Amino acid sequence: MQESYSHLEMYYDFLRKRDISEETIQEYECLASTKTLNEGIKNLYSTMPVERALGALFADETMSAYMVSKYNEGLILEGVSEEDRYFWELHIKVEVGHSNSIFNIIAPYIQNEEGKRLFDEGIKLYLYLMKQYWDGIEVLVNE
Ligand SMILES: [Fe+2]
Repeated sequence: MQESYSHLEMYYDFLRKRDISEETIQEYECLASTKTLNEGIKNLYSTMPVERALGALFADETMSAYMVSKYNEGLILEGVSEEDRYFWELHIKVEVGHSNSIFNIIAPYIQNEEGKRLFDEGIKLYLYLMKQYWDGIEVLVNE
């Protein structure tokens, strides 16, 4: 076994097992809507107030747990083995842990109605970015 096995190597192995070539991986450019999502998340996470950032982070981690389980279910339907779904099986557990961790640390930061309002605002802003992301994918799929 290798000394370390990075997240990137794990994902590349998954792609190779799906017969996605090195050339395809290297030439891939993400959608403009994906770049908008990434920039929006970066902005939410790095801008005060902390309550809003925590709302966005909580939404991100909770959504991630659900999203990776959905990807995994799709791969099961395609007959992909558990071994070849390792990246996703691992991430279901990891993302549930992340969302629980965020939930467990918010109490000291969300102590009044304004804090709750900002936390909710962070959730809504994150979900708006995710909607734009999925709208971008829908346009691509329908082309
Ligand atoms: Fe996560």
